[in-house]
Amino acid sequence: MNTIHILLIEDSETDAILVKHELLQAMDNQVTLAHTKRISEALELIQQQSFDSILVKHELLQAMGNQVTLVHANRMSEALELIQQQSFDLILSDLGLPDCSGIETINRLHKNAASIPITVLSSRNDEKLALQAIKAGAQDYLVKGALTEGALARVIQYSIERKRTEERAKKAQQRFQTIFEKAPLGIALINFRTGKFLDVNPMYASIVGRTIDELIQISQANIIHPEDLEVYLQSMALLDNHKIPSSKITKRILHPNGSIIWIEMSVVPFDTGEDAEVCYLCMIKDISDHRQMIANLHDLTEHLQNIREEEQTRIGREIHDVIGGTLTVLKMDLDWLSKKVTANPMHERIKSLYQLTGEAIETTRRVSTNLRPNVLDNLGLHGGIEWLIREFEQRMNIECHLTLSVPNIPELDKNRETAIFRIIQEVFTNITRHAQATIVKMYIEEKDHHILFKIKDNGIGITKEQLINPKSFGIIGMHERAKQMGAQLIIKGSHSNGSVIQLQVPIQNFQKDLREIAND
Ligand SMILES: Nc1ncnc2c1ncn2[C@@H]1O[C@H](COP(=O)(O)OP(=O)(O)OP(=O)(O)O)[C@@H](O)[C@H]1O
Ligand SMILES: [Mg+2]
Repeated sequence: MNTIHILLIEDSETDAILVKHELLQAMDNQVTLAHTKRISEALELIQQQSFDSILVKHELLQAMGNQVTLVHANRMSEALELIQQQSFDLILSDLGLPDCSGIETINRLHKNAASIPITVLSSRNDEKLALQAIKAGAQDYLVKGALTEGALARVIQYSIERKRTEERAKKAQQRFQTIFEKAPLGIALINFRTGKFLDVNPMYASIVGRTIDELIQISQANIIHPEDLEVYLQSMALLDNHKIPSSKITKRILHPNGSIIWIEMSVVPFDTGEDAEVCYLCMIKDISDHRQMIANLHDLTEHLQNIREEEQTRIGREIHDVIGGTLTVLKMDLDWLSKKVTANPMHERIKSLYQLTGEAIETTRRVSTNLRPNVLDNLGLHGGIEWLIREFEQRMNIECHLTLSVPNIPELDKNRETAIFRIIQEVFTNITRHAQATIVKMYIEEKDHHILFKIKDNGIGITKEQLINPKSFGIIGMHERAKQMGAQLIIKGSHSNGSVIQLQVPIQNFQKDLREIAND
């Protein structure tokens, strides 16, 4: 708590000394007196007069838990000068000064120090004058020599309280202002009905690329991207109807330089305390970089997947053509040799080599097909899926039923067929490695211009934690591939019913169409 600074305007040195002395005693010598020179004089006077009526020391002491300083002025001119130079919390003033008297004293003080409370300390016990003084702006009228018990103490206590409250409010206001000004978040107060900005912080203005003054002239709707405006207005309406307590939306802002800023916006209703003004507090964060990073990451993933696919195709072809080709020649020669060399044990050795070569050819074919299933090229997606199922059944000895509700899977472009094939391949690999299933059912349906691939196993079921685990790269890869072709992938699992994977692919390639439009 800061010091309470009091201005005492009193032409009578005696009265001034009396007040000071009382304060001095009350404050247990804590008061810094401007006029300490005549303390001895005061003590002398105190001997001669009765002061009980001036102040009740005990009460004042209670009121003065804090430090008080007192400055004494003898004349109005001196008082007004002091008011200019210092800031006072209370004025205690006599009404009979050499250069100003009566109610004029209050008028002048009030005019020059409207915010400082004034208490009259007069020797005139005049009710009319007291009333006039209060009307002119004085807070209290005390009669010297006839002070009611604790009156002065009360006046000072009130001013201390007032000062405390003011300081608290000032500090809270300063704190709020600093947060508002320095926040790394865009903050604005907006009128609910008109959408007009009432208050905007520097960060808000900087994010949307306008000045605070410019924003105050316009409404939020003026800066929102037209395509996002409807969603924004809808969420505002929900807030207005109290259907939701707050709203968080991602939307685009039109920067005056023509660029688009992606922002994440949180909105909460805000009570300004004025009925007419229903407001909301809007906080925004620039997420353009973040969005760009995600978009880059998607592009990079797509690029890497394409490279991987091309690389696998190349290696698969090499294995198939070169190693497969060589082994086939070897097998034919061994066959010829076995017919020429009939004597054992040479014949048996050659026969055994012939068989091993046959197995090596088979492995080569499988490896190269896994790398790039040429069934996809030769037989299309349907053939590829059937091949996957056959492979899976043979390897795992698990029944797998395929139900096709259309005679043929509609033909899709190569990239999407490969993506679907890879997703289904990963599903079968996961069933092989994790599911502990005994039956797998696959359904392929055509519905609402989409093809639906559904694979169900009766195993232990994938858990929610495994689905959202950032290290489930197989699942992340499936989602990435689905997203790239504009498909929807849903994976669910339960301990009692196993896992089910649904991939819904639009027959028309919207992603490709969009890319082509963008390139045009
Ligand atoms: N059909 C399934 N049944 C039960 N659990 C499954 C099934 N499919 C996946 N899971 C669980 O989900 C986890 C994540 O699968 P994901 O394919 O992402 O990774 P992974 O198969 O372990 O490794 P990889 O990156 O080689 O694919 C698996 O480790 C497994 O625990
Ligand atoms: Mg996996």
